[in-house]
Amino acid sequence: MWGFLMSKYTVSTLQNLKNNHTRFGTITAYDAAFAKIFDDCEVPALLIGDSLGMVMQGRESTIGVTVDDVAYHTRCVSKVVKNSLIIADLPFMSYYDKPTAAVSAKKLMESGANVVKLEGGQEIADIVTMLVHNGIPVCSHIGLTPQFVNIFGGYKIQGRSEEQARKLLNDAQALQEAGACMIVLECIPAELAKEITRKLRIPTIGIGAGNNTDGQILVMHDAFGITPGHTPKFARNFLQESGNFTDAVKLYLSEVQNGNFPNDSQSFH
Ligand code: KIV
Repeated sequence: MWGFLMSKYTVSTLQNLKNNHTRFGTITAYDAAFAKIFDDCEVPALLIGDSLGMVMQGRESTIGVTVDDVAYHTRCVSKVVKNSLIIADLPFMSYYDKPTAAVSAKKLMESGANVVKLEGGQEIADIVTMLVHNGIPVCSHIGLTPQFVNIFGGYKIQGRSEEQARKLLNDAQALQEAGACMIVLECIPAELAKEITRKLRIPTIGIGAGNNTDGQILVMHDAFGITPGHTPKFARNFLQESGNFTDAVKLYLSEVQNGNFPNDSQSFH
């Protein structure tokens, strides 16, 4: 009797895709109209990313995005979604300690999220565990984590030195042990992403991390060639190739599934 409450895709179905070696595409969504297109195409997961700070609000970074902002867009998306798993970002400084993380994550879950995403490595493993112990599935996010842009001194590829690569591998394993059910790997060398993916039980979702991760994610504007400002190397304009949004999303999903996207020139090494 409970089945009708769940979307078609859950954390278990994403885990099964990894177990069956089936690559999957995911995409960001911020509003009902695009979320409906993505959901009708049965995109396995939609992320209400704090990238909304840039693509929705015109900011220069994700810093400044609030839990209320993400909650608002999560409500817009969740109203129309029937198939896709909904992941919502915990924004900058909304999970700096356990009580704050609990309050922030509760708000996103009440807005319709199925999973919350947190940037950070083993330093936040205790927060991941606390959320999971309270029934909140966690997607971790390591590599070029945009909330750390001021620590990194810019949007720089991470994991290029041996020391950085070892730290990212250790982070991924610690987050899995802490209870994360999936992990985003952003802008790291394809070889490192492949190694992390091979070592982890849980699905990895890459962006600028080569085509040997279990899944991929794109900011929707990067998939449609409408990114405000600089277009990243790992973007591909599926809309131009297809002519309409639905076919663009279907092309993206199939190109991820058959391993054609991202290609070598859309990856870092
Ligand atoms: O905020 C976002 O859209 C993200 C993706 C780029 C992974 O975190």
